[in-house]
Amino acid sequence: MPSATPDHSAPRIVLGVGGGIAAYKSVELLRRLRDAGYFVSPVLTRDATRFVGEVTFSALASEPTRTSLYGDPTTPIPHTYLGQHAALIVVAPATAHLIARFAMGLADDLLSATLLASRAPVLLCPAMHTEMWEQPSVQENLALLRRRGVLVMEPATGALAGGDVGAGRLREPEEIFAMVEHIVRGYRGPLSGQNVLISAGGTREAIDPVRVISNRSSGRQGIALAEVAHRLGAHVTLVSASELNLALDVVNQVDVVHVESAAQMRTALMERAHESDVIIMAAAVSDFTLDSAPIKLKKGAGVPVLELVATPDILQDLVAERRSGQVIVGFAAETHDVLENAVAKLQRKDVDLLVVNDVSAAGVGFEHTTNEVVILAKNAEASTVTLRSKEAISYEILTRVASLLNQGAP
Ligand code: CTP
Repeated sequence: MPSATPDHSAPRIVLGVGGGIAAYKSVELLRRLRDAGYFVSPVLTRDATRFVGEVTFSALASEPTRTSLYGDPTTPIPHTYLGQHAALIVVAPATAHLIARFAMGLADDLLSATLLASRAPVLLCPAMHTEMWEQPSVQENLALLRRRGVLVMEPATGALAGGDVGAGRLREPEEIFAMVEHIVRGYRGPLSGQNVLISAGGTREAIDPVRVISNRSSGRQGIALAEVAHRLGAHVTLVSASELNLALDVVNQVDVVHVESAAQMRTALMERAHESDVIIMAAAVSDFTLDSAPIKLKKGAGVPVLELVATPDILQDLVAERRSGQVIVGFAAETHDVLENAVAKLQRKDVDLLVVNDVSAAGVGFEHTTNEVVILAKNAEASTVTLRSKEAISYEILTRVASLLNQGAP
């Protein structure tokens, strides 16, 4: 419980609240932060006060709620005071308007001015209707802010105000709290001390020095797994055949090994497998390869006939060399008879968890930022994780992994 007298030496969290219906959830976030001992200074925008009362925040926070640049009894310049003393500024919910103001450098109220007057890390938790969330203007503003080092917690997909369902729902206070802990205290989460080896992306098999055979995997799911595993306390090695980058807060924290072909991926993984507590094969490994021509095949020489040969199944090799207690997770990309094929794959590959994607469904799997999966346990017990960001899917998978490790699996 929060102590009656706030601890002024505790890390100060500026809790910014924008004017959206999800503002009610930030009351719960405030409680969690106070319970954990933080000094919390709430800053509400004018519109936020239409959704939640200043008094509610003041009653739970470490000091009274602020809503204005002017008339603050404690300091004549509250934005610089807050900005300079913050260990973190978390904005939940961050509305499209607030995001735009921050991206443009506007400072026309206390919250936007505080964001500019601070060198503290900033965590934005957007919440809005799907149409607004998907607007290029909103996405471009967020991309700009991310490039400047601002952290963004992608909204979840689920029930929205007015009975709609879609992307744009504020992440649960619990998840935002875990992220705050991660940023401020370097919290070691449920994967603390575990070595996690993750593969990502689609491998590329050279036809000649110019051309490759590949697949549609973007690597996003594997990269999201690496980011979230790190945030949950793991030491992560990412073997990546993807061009995409890790988020700014983890980019120097995860060991990344870049590979291109299935053979290179196999070598990189097998070398590191024995020291890993968890292995997650999220990569789309090419099933076929060929002997690359040493020089470019010229058109004039006619249409080449390519002779493909099978690549080794890396996952099967990893399972064959599995050491005791190691948790191995496979993925299954299916387009038809999804569950039937997946259950057969689970048995064939003998993994602890199989994450099944129906890659033919809308918004799922390859090239998308969202995913919907079924997680199959060893006994073929299936649990569906409905459509949401690949980051949110990663939390689900890694929470399952953490509980298998606790049970001393396999
Ligand atoms: N995998 C692997 N090595 C390969 C092919 C696949 O390690 N040469 C791994 C993938 O990373 C994934 C799992 O095996 O974790 C299943 O991959 P998937 O493409 O769904 O299945 P395949 O084994 O290729 O079987 P099929 O083509 O019959 O679907």
